[in-house]
Amino acid sequence: MRLSELETPCLVLDREKLARNIAALHVRLRGLGVNLRPHGKTAKCIDAVRLALEGPSGGITVSTLKEAEYYFDHGIVDMIYAVGVAPVKLDRIAALIGRGAHLSVILDSMAQARLLAERARAHDLVIPALIELDCDGHRSGVVPDDPLLTEIGRFLHTQKHTALAGVLTHAGESYNCRSIEAIQALADTEREAAVKSAEALRRLGLPCPIVSVGSTPTANFARDLSGVTEVRAGVFMFYDLVMAGLGVCAADDIALSVLASVIGHQERKGWIITDAGWMALSRDRGTAFQAIDQGYGLVGDMTGRPLGDLIVTGVSQEHGIVAGRAGKPTPAPSLEVGAKVRIFPNHACATGAMHDRYQVVDGEDKVVAVWSRINGW
Ligand SMILES: Cc1ncc(COP(=O)(O)O)c(C=O)c1O
Repeated sequence: MRLSELETPCLVLDREKLARNIAALHVRLRGLGVNLRPHGKTAKCIDAVRLALEGPSGGITVSTLKEAEYYFDHGIVDMIYAVGVAPVKLDRIAALIGRGAHLSVILDSMAQARLLAERARAHDLVIPALIELDCDGHRSGVVPDDPLLTEIGRFLHTQKHTALAGVLTHAGESYNCRSIEAIQALADTEREAAVKSAEALRRLGLPCPIVSVGSTPTANFARDLSGVTEVRAGVFMFYDLVMAGLGVCAADDIALSVLASVIGHQERKGWIITDAGWMALSRDRGTAFQAIDQGYGLVGDMTGRPLGDLIVTGVSQEHGIVAGRAGKPTPAPSLEVGAKVRIFPNHACATGAMHDRYQVVDGEDKVVAVWSRINGW
């Protein structure tokens, strides 16, 4: 099969770029003396995640139990489920640990810690947990100087059915940084929050084997990671327009695109209509607040080269409106009905989630593999 023969819309993954992106972050983090724990939530695909692991026994991060079960069934044992744990999920977590998974959860409250201890006792096994830290006010987590940190730590360590596995933080605010210097400063803050918290726990004689930080921007620009044991990142495998807008990658590094067909024109408006609406692209508008607003995606030709200033300016469920960027000349009219374009996504995780497989290419037109992916919880 060639890309030109595929039914549209479909998701295209450039394996050459994927491999290049993975190798680059491994080299960078190795230079800083830390391990990369790839996040499986972007690809949700064992083939991609295997490429991101340096060795067969490496650990990953997951964002859903469905991912945890799927990756475990494909041979990955060491996993951190990096979304604050909900009580209703504890039995499923215990079942996975009972099957042999080395699965840790994260939490930031005594309520979660107590429920964890209770359910782990009921299952007669140990569930390890990391304390989630808030390093940038982005979302959840314990602030490092809050006495709650050591209260949770002591509880997890002293209960028979829980274990204190370490601390974890995610500098989600890095997505809103306006400069590389700002990302570097946030990477310092992220490291400091994690290392100081680990030290506070250790001063009390509590263990803190894992000191985990990470987001794709901070992973790419951290200058010092001393005291950190691992970095988590997921988007870096595929990259996307948000990352390109931040200066974290080049547009040419984006490995993911949606293949779409032209299905019509509204010539008086200067629009090209495609069959890739929000069901294929997602509704993510992550570049809306960046210097260059990419609409719902940047439009490229079949080789992936951007077609000037063509972007997806509007979407409905199964239609995409392609037009020039506001204030730019009307798009090239050479895209007749049936012509195909590749649309680069704002947010790789969100666009990926709209699809159940990747059409894999190696930089060229030929589809070399089809990789399935999972969705849901
Ligand atoms: C807890 C956690 N760790 C790591 C990551 C990975 O960051 P990124 O998506 O920037 O690669 C995320 C992403 O949301 C996250 O929520």
